[in-house]
Amino acid sequence: METQTYNYKVVRQFAVMTVVWGVVGMLVGVIVAAQLYLPQLNLSEIGPWFHFGRLRPLHTNAIIFAFGGCGLIATSYYVVQRTCNVRLYGGWLPAFTFWGWQLVIVLAAITLPLGYTQGKEYAELAWPIDILIALVWVAYAIVFFGTIAKRKIKHIYVANWFYGAFILAVALLHIVNSLAVPAGLFSMTSYPIYGGAIDAMVQWWYGHNAVGFFLTAGFLGMMYYFVPKQAGRPVYSYRLSVVHFWALIFTYMWAGPHHLHYTALPDWTQSLGMVLSLILFVPSWGGMINGIMTLSGAWDKLRTDPILKFLVVSLSFYGMSTFEGPMMSIKTVNALSHYTDWTVGHVHAGALGWVGFVTMGSIYYLIPRLFGRKEMYSTKLIEAHFWIGTVGIVLYIASMWIAGVMQGLMWGALNDNGTLANPDFVTTVRESMRFFLIRLVGGLLYLSGMLLMAYNVYRTATAGKPVDAEIPALTHSQQH
Ligand code: HEM
Ligand code: HEM
Repeated sequence: METQTYNYKVVRQFAVMTVVWGVVGMLVGVIVAAQLYLPQLNLSEIGPWFHFGRLRPLHTNAIIFAFGGCGLIATSYYVVQRTCNVRLYGGWLPAFTFWGWQLVIVLAAITLPLGYTQGKEYAELAWPIDILIALVWVAYAIVFFGTIAKRKIKHIYVANWFYGAFILAVALLHIVNSLAVPAGLFSMTSYPIYGGAIDAMVQWWYGHNAVGFFLTAGFLGMMYYFVPKQAGRPVYSYRLSVVHFWALIFTYMWAGPHHLHYTALPDWTQSLGMVLSLILFVPSWGGMINGIMTLSGAWDKLRTDPILKFLVVSLSFYGMSTFEGPMMSIKTVNALSHYTDWTVGHVHAGALGWVGFVTMGSIYYLIPRLFGRKEMYSTKLIEAHFWIGTVGIVLYIASMWIAGVMQGLMWGALNDNGTLANPDFVTTVRESMRFFLIRLVGGLLYLSGMLLMAYNVYRTATAGKPVDAEIPALTHSQQH
């Protein structure tokens, strides 16, 4: 007989590791931020493995794929079971996805500092790890879509559409962008099958859709389940959510060339990327407004519920970064912003504000339910986390905006006779130092908030015990 409980074990494992990898990834972020301010911290005397160039990809991989990835898999496994009214499909496969994903992360943490890299941003990992990622991801897709296939509820809730698109698109992106010929069976080196401008195009088709599907669509799935749940209100407009879905996934796929303005890429592809990026503003804001308006009639809860604060403020940052992104994709604006810290500011408005906060809000929602508690150990600590984190984000992104615009203007400044006013690159670096310090303080605050979360999760988990909720019986009209 089929067991009558949901599989919460794998959700619990991924949820706890989200917090662990969050602390690790942010700590490495703080270290690289400190290295930019104090180059001595590269610690050359202990070898190259602690250098900025080695640790930067460790930060991006740990924070996106370990913290973000575990958060996405935890919540998608929870949401798909709850909204389909069935236990997770696939027997031992969910456990395989958990251990396989942790192995990928550990291998990344070893190989990146050792200097093994393919040199493609967000796709640095060596080819054997790429193969492991593909295997785990296919298993994840089988579990997720298998659960949808055996669902007891006819309707597929919109959050699952977003999670499903994220899973399919990431499989496609990862496999196509990673196609390479290994230098030898026992060599970690490989050569991409693409060359020149085509390699760059494929890489940024991947890179931008990693943003669109990993850092956006999956987290929108989270938003569509946890915002209504925490607010105790239905989604503001279900019809808008469906339009949002189709418009967003269609548009994202074309926007990649905005990362390659003024390069060897054919000019028309750059213009196409720019136009589609401008159009992308519309579905992004449609989704953001849909999320925020879900609070209609429940605004008062914002005053007392810090979890809802995390979720709603994450949506505001989502709105901010999806306004800023289209602006930066305009070629003339990009001429100023590209290569500067403005891009880094934009990235972290999305990363700290949107991705970080929506994950934290959702994990705070999940933890008590997974450990049989009514609520988190301390609501006051959640509130403190929210405020410390928010101040941290503001310091981070405001300092990078100012630094970025300053750098762009200084590089472009000309003397009356047409020569560069700041021919020495070091001048802009020197001018940027105070902003690097402010960013470091912001990062430290954000990390401190995460440490409060880790403590709060630890106390909640140890005060409770692991539970697997029962699958409720359905009325006839709800059934498939
Ligand atoms: C404590 C929090 C964090 C700190 C202090 C931090 C710091 C940094 C630093 C110093 C860089 C390198 C910038 C450069 O090369 O000039 C960076 C890059 C990056 N970080 Fe973070 N980070 C934090 C959190 C996050 C989070 C939560 C995410 C994603 C969810 C994230 C995603 C990224 C990405 C994608 C890049 C590459 C940006 C680019 O290439 O333009 N970071 N971070
Ligand atoms: C409508 C939505 C968005 C558009 C049109 C957009 C557009 C852009 C543009 C034009 C750049 C600068 C490219 C360059 O000069 O190199 C950029 C960089 C970036 N954006 Fe966005 N953005 C959007 C939303 C987001 C969101 C929500 C996030 C994060 C969660 C994000 C993460 C990034 C990252 C990580 C980079 C840096 C890539 C790199 O160079 O390493 N973007 N985006």
